[in-house]
Amino acid sequence: MIGRLNHVAIAVADLDAATATYRDTLGATVSGVLPLPDHGVNTVFVELPNTKIELLQPLDAMSPIAAFVARNPAGGIHHVCYEVDDILAARDKLQAEGARVLGDGEPTTGAHGKPVLFLHPKDFCGTLIELEQV
Ligand code: CO
Repeated sequence: MIGRLNHVAIAVADLDAATATYRDTLGATVSGVLPLPDHGVNTVFVELPNTKIELLQPLDAMSPIAAFVARNPAGGIHHVCYEVDDILAARDKLQAEGARVLGDGEPTTGAHGKPVLFLHPKDFCGTLIELEQV
């Protein structure tokens, strides 16, 4: 069901510093800052030859990733995003097998303007999974 690894997301307290690390120290191509107020984050995408890294910074203390960053002040891997062809079919199959979909189970619009869903980390090896329909 799952396809390509779309991105690995790293949550950070300082988006400018993280962007500089990837651009200047690691020599990667980085995007501008993309605000996603619906998700409570600012994002920068790092383009790699075979996938992307999504740098995430909480917009404020109410952000869904604020507690994660507070627990991981140096930053940390927050989620991995896998591509699916049909997000509603994927959701229905996963829920039928007992997996928990976060929120109300309806896809929201992700950083690429495509439908996304998040799956409970306790059902997937301790890893928060984002599914993106491509
Ligand atoms: Co993501």
